[in-house]
Amino acid sequence: MTGARVTLITGASSGIGSATARRLAAPGEALLLTARGGVDGGKVAALEAVAEEARGAGAEVAIKVADLAEPGAAAALVDATLARFGRLDRIVSNAGFAVSGTLNETPEEKYESSMQVIFRTFLDLVRAAEPALTAAPAGRIVNVSSFVVDQVPGGRAFPATAAAKGAADALARTLAVEFAPNGITVNSVAPGFTEKESHGHSALSQAAWDAAAALTPDGRLAKPADVAAAIAFFLSDEAAHITGQCLRVDGGLSLV
Ligand SMILES: NC(=O)c1ccc[n+]([C@@H]2O[C@H](COP(=O)([O-])OP(=O)(O)OC[C@H]3O[C@@H](n4cnc5c(N)ncnc54)[C@H](OP(=O)(O)O)[C@@H]3O)[C@@H](O)[C@H]2O)c1
Repeated sequence: MTGARVTLITGASSGIGSATARRLAAPGEALLLTARGGVDGGKVAALEAVAEEARGAGAEVAIKVADLAEPGAAAALVDATLARFGRLDRIVSNAGFAVSGTLNETPEEKYESSMQVIFRTFLDLVRAAEPALTAAPAGRIVNVSSFVVDQVPGGRAFPATAAAKGAADALARTLAVEFAPNGITVNSVAPGFTEKESHGHSALSQAAWDAAAALTPDGRLAKPADVAAAIAFFLSDEAAHITGQCLRVDGGLSLV
């Protein structure tokens, strides 16, 4: 078993997930980084590059390519983490994507895949990890939510994403109470519109991103590192008495 603190981060090949890996990477930290590697596996190199960078910062790092649209994939990631490191302290359930459109413009399969990759993955991860997180000195769970749960900024709706993220948020709050006696905190971070890397999944055109920045009170998109900072706070020892909360990282978007 490693002596390092072990964090499982989903969606670690780009954007918020890779920024979180960079933020956490340090001696005494172990990271299990996972992503699908792109729809066709062609982006595995991006995940490997994040892992290499984190190793350079002193972390122990393992990667696992998995498609969370596959039932059972999330629990298998927990098993892989325990097999590799012998312990699991913290989970960041970040993998996801957004689907923009009205109720009926959104294809049926997007409702299904959103629920599977976003909500079901979160449920399966925490269920599989509960014994290890309970055994950890300071178990932590962070659910990466979204502004789309309770906002339709500029009239742009994301119904499939909102439903899946909203279900995960509700589960996170409920689990915060159930897991509190075990020393595990469960919190959510809700990014506003956040910059994408060139190999990220974007639901919007460049014009729509520009409009999103203009809608945001501080006049810019969030950077993945802005969101990673909030995630790192919930994972930290300093946040030990904070559970069941959602922290918005949105430049004030939720207020307008
Ligand atoms: N960017 C925003 O404006 C924004 C706003 C609010 C909330 N969020 C949320 O923040 C999270 C991260 O978003 P981001 O902007 O960092 O996006 P991103 O750069 O596109 O990263 C998404 C990550 O999720 C992984 N992923 C997607 N589908 C997957 C699947 N079926 N199985 C396994 N991994 C999968 C991707 O891996 P592959 O590339 O290998 O598929 C990638 O690593 C998401 O949950 C998103 O909904 C983002």
